[in-house]
Amino acid sequence: MTAGPIRGALTGKRVLLTGATGFVGEALLERLLFDLPDTRVVLLIRARGDVSALQRAKQLLEGPAFARLREREGDDLDGVFDNGHVEVVEGDLDRIPPLPPDLDVVIHCAGEVSFDPPIDEGFATNLHGTLNVLAAVEASGSRPHYLHVSTAYVAGLQQGHVLEGRLDHAVDWRREADLAHQLRERLEIDSRSGEQLAAFTAGAAAEHGVTGATSVAAAAERRRREWVDKALVDAGRERGRSLGWTDCYTFTKAMAERAVEQTTAHLPVTILRPSIIESALKQPFPGWIEGFKMAEPIILAFGRGDLPEFPAIPDGVLDVIPVDLVVNATLAAASRPPEPGSPAYFTICSGARNPLRFGLLYELVRDYFVAHPMVQRDRGEVKVPHWNWPGSARVDQLIRLGERAQRAADRVVTAMPRSSRTRDWARTLDRQRGRLEFLRRYYDLYQPYTEAELHFTDNATHALHRSLHPDDVEPFGFDVAVIDWRHYLQDVHVPAIVAPMTAMSAMRGPRPTPTRMVRPAENTVAVFDMDGTLLSSNVVESYLWLRLPELGLPAKAREVGEVARALPRWLATEKKDRSAFLRMVYRRYEGASLTELERIVDEEITATMLTRLSAAAVRAVREHRDAGHRVVLVTGAVRPLTRPVATLFDEIVAAELAVSSEGRCTGLLQRPPMVGEARASWLRHRAQEAGWDLSASYAYADSASDLPLLRAVGNPVVVDPDVVLSRVARKERWPVELWHGSPARHRPLEAAR
Ligand SMILES: NC(=O)c1ccc[n+]([C@@H]2O[C@H](COP(=O)([O-])OP(=O)(O)OC[C@H]3O[C@@H](n4cnc5c(N)ncnc54)[C@H](OP(=O)(O)O)[C@@H]3O)[C@@H](O)[C@H]2O)c1
Repeated sequence: MTAGPIRGALTGKRVLLTGATGFVGEALLERLLFDLPDTRVVLLIRARGDVSALQRAKQLLEGPAFARLREREGDDLDGVFDNGHVEVVEGDLDRIPPLPPDLDVVIHCAGEVSFDPPIDEGFATNLHGTLNVLAAVEASGSRPHYLHVSTAYVAGLQQGHVLEGRLDHAVDWRREADLAHQLRERLEIDSRSGEQLAAFTAGAAAEHGVTGATSVAAAAERRRREWVDKALVDAGRERGRSLGWTDCYTFTKAMAERAVEQTTAHLPVTILRPSIIESALKQPFPGWIEGFKMAEPIILAFGRGDLPEFPAIPDGVLDVIPVDLVVNATLAAASRPPEPGSPAYFTICSGARNPLRFGLLYELVRDYFVAHPMVQRDRGEVKVPHWNWPGSARVDQLIRLGERAQRAADRVVTAMPRSSRTRDWARTLDRQRGRLEFLRRYYDLYQPYTEAELHFTDNATHALHRSLHPDDVEPFGFDVAVIDWRHYLQDVHVPAIVAPMTAMSAMRGPRPTPTRMVRPAENTVAVFDMDGTLLSSNVVESYLWLRLPELGLPAKAREVGEVARALPRWLATEKKDRSAFLRMVYRRYEGASLTELERIVDEEITATMLTRLSAAAVRAVREHRDAGHRVVLVTGAVRPLTRPVATLFDEIVAAELAVSSEGRCTGLLQRPPMVGEARASWLRHRAQEAGWDLSASYAYADSASDLPLLRAVGNPVVVDPDVVLSRVARKERWPVELWHGSPARHRPLEAAR
């Protein structure tokens, strides 16, 4: 190992590094341990859940970035924590514990890097986090060289040359931070106004009304919280843009720079402004990258064929810099502290000396995917699109058109009668929606970056590189002119980000379809819904089956006419409140004799009903019986209608018609109908009484109103679902069974027994 001046300058120094668990911080830590073993490193890391900061640091050293260090030092790197080479301080940026009093260098790399965080969170991490680091350093008594990792994009939306120096603006960072913090409080208050709450509840009721009041309340509160967060995200983006920055990220990073400048007159300060940091050119190994950053989602979406156009200009520059060049420049800067009160500024970028234009980037990436197409599970080898560079306005218009068509198609499919075809359409629409949402998100986030006509200059950084001692050039050089973009993109970067995807899909193979498994167990129950699940019938139809035989011919005709007239109102009610709908239908039993209804079921309609009973349902019931489970029918139908299937079940919960002393139905019910949340609460209550283990139990249902019942058990099974339930089942990976519409559907119960 040659001992150039960088090693010499940093030998024996104590370096505090924040953000070591992130991309740039990890690369810096690796170089400190690999190339500067005579430094002592202090890491500020926060615990995550039950994993302590020290455990996180140890896990880090087991990762791929540290492979060459393990090769050199042996597999167990824990020694670095025992021999004082690395010390871990557990702390969050908002609560930093006491720091050592003899820090020589601080590299503050931790930050909130998402472009659109809620504005208060952006300020909390990027501005207050920085001020807290500086305050903790001050309190420790250390007077180190403070290196602040910022971003080249603090330059904002300006056009043309961007100089390495103090930003030219007069924005008051203290006031902006205070107001950002107050905004959350104000939005929390606004979100609780009667008008807003009524809107959240109305929206939630439209979506979850059929399920029940608890689901509506939970959804309304979820909507309120999302509303607050979205308003804070919007405020961050718009406040940033209104002051000339691209988004909340660059705005808060710019505010942090000014805060550093104004609070560190007594310290040597270096401000580092990398552009878009991507995978390593050489160190720790070519292609090393941690997590997906800015360009990766776009490159992968292009490879998957999901990016038909892009809002960039072909001769515009995407300013990309490999992470090892950023690390090298940082270490070189760390070895040259400037005078206190005169911060040094370094823009670490490629655009000034070796610009990568969008047109070339596109060609190189496209050629790569033509030669090595991505393989999609259901589409085979993907053909990548041709970009025509229609400009951002046209791309925006195309996305808008897609969004409009998507919304219209979605309304139609959700309102259509359930069938396999409707569910397939819904699945296709969901896939398209996912792609459109991706396009919209990346269009909104990246459009200001891709169309920005920024020209970063890097004279100071280049001078720093040229001033390197000859021994430092090889291990610590950062001359961007050496980057061959074809080699970097086609041999290093794109293969590095595609490889984990390919490995993952090879490991995963085709995704298995979730299937129902009936396991023998004690204290286990299988709950079945009736209409739409066990039987292909519905409440109105069964009402007519039951009621018409009792009436004479003129009354029959009158009844059918009245039901037909009431139907639109009933169906509209059912969409909002299933309980009210059932009560409306059951009112019409007023005056009917209960004994007569039972006789009609037994003698006249059992055969019809059994033709509607699914043979698959009967088999499922039997499997549960054989497995020793208790089998229960829970239905909103009136009890007489359950008589044809009564022998299948150990227990039946149905709507009980109230009867007068003369045995006539009053049109009322003895207790509220068993629908939506009521089914789940009945099941929990009964499970408590009977000692059933719901986590091992099963529920079978067909409609979104049954979600609480399905969620109450460990093994939900969805049968011929409506569109809403089929979407939930797909997301939750619940088994979906098609019991109706197959030839077995017409097999009567006797045949199935
Ligand atoms: N990546 C780029 O393209 C790019 C470009 C220019 C500049 N930069 C700058 O480079 C720096 C590092 O970026 P990155 O890409 O490495 O980001 P990253 O991978 O997201 O890592 C962020 C790091 O900050 C830490 N952190 C965030 N909030 C924290 C908190 N409240 N308390 C303690 N630690 C916290 C994270 O710790 P956890 O692991 O605990 O979350 C993580 O270690 C940032 O300042 C960024 O602005 C990045």
